[in-house]
Amino acid sequence: MARRKLVYEGKAKILYEGTEPGTLVQYFKDDATAFNAQKKEIIDGKGVLNNRLSEFFMMGLARIGVPTHFIRRLNMREQLIRQVEIIPLEVIVRNFAAGTMAKRLGMEEGTPLPRPIVEFSYKDDSLGDPLVPEEYIIAFGWASQQDLDDIIALALRVNDFMAGVMHGVGIKLIDFKIEVGRVWDNDFMRLIVADEISPDSCRLWDIESGRKLDKDVFRQDLGDLADAYTEVAKRLGVLPSNATHMPKPTLIN
Ligand code: C5P
Repeated sequence: MARRKLVYEGKAKILYEGTEPGTLVQYFKDDATAFNAQKKEIIDGKGVLNNRLSEFFMMGLARIGVPTHFIRRLNMREQLIRQVEIIPLEVIVRNFAAGTMAKRLGMEEGTPLPRPIVEFSYKDDSLGDPLVPEEYIIAFGWASQQDLDDIIALALRVNDFMAGVMHGVGIKLIDFKIEVGRVWDNDFMRLIVADEISPDSCRLWDIESGRKLDKDVFRQDLGDLADAYTEVAKRLGVLPSNATHMPKPTLIN
C-alpha cells in the first residue's frame, strides 16, 4: 500500500498531495486551538462539521461566481482542493465590533460598524499574526496594489454572500477571516478563496438570543463547541434538523 505524501500540517488541518496534479487533499482535524495554540483541545466531530460547512460555503460562493479552491468533498473529513500559492495574509472582514478590534479600540462587542471593514494580518504564528497596514503589504512584496484591490473586492463579495446566507437562518455574521491564494491559468494569475470558511474562522451570533455559535464558545469557555457548530449546520440544512453531534454527525449527501 502506498503512503500518501504529507505536504503541510497546521493546527486544524493537514494537507496531503492530491490525486491529480495541481491538487491537494485537505483533511480537517478535531483539534481546536486558540490564543496562538496556547489553549488546545480535541473536540469530537469538529473536523467532520467544518469539512461539510466549508464545502457548503465554498460551493455557494462558486454558484455566485466567486472562485475558490474547493473541487469536491472526498469523505467525512477530506476534500480535494486546488493547490494555490497562499498569500501570507489573513484577510478579515468585520460588520460589527468584536474580538481584537473591540479590544484595540475599547468598543463594546456587537457595535455595528459604519460599513464593512477589511483588515489584514501577516500570517506568522511566531509573531501572533500581527495586524499590518496595506503599506507594509506592498512594501514587503506580499501582494501588489492591484492584488490588494482584488482581494478587498473578493472579501466583500464573500461578506455579502455569507451575511445573506446567515441572515436567512437567523444568524448575524459579526466577522470572518479568509485566506487568498494565487493560481495560474497559463500566463494569467487569478486570486481565489482558499483555506476554509467555517465557524472556526467566523463570528456567528444568533439574532434572537445573541448566543455565540462559533469558536468564541471554545475561546471563552461558553459551552460545547460541537453543539454550537451542529446548530449552524442544522439551520443551513447541512445536517438533518434532528441530528446530534454525538457520537458522529449524520451527513446528508
Ligand atoms: O481575533 P479577531 O477579532 O482579530 O478575529 C477576527 C475574525 O477572524 C474572527 O472571526 C476570527 O475567528 C477570525 N480569525 C481566524 N484566524 C485567526 C485570527 C482570526 O479565523 N488566526
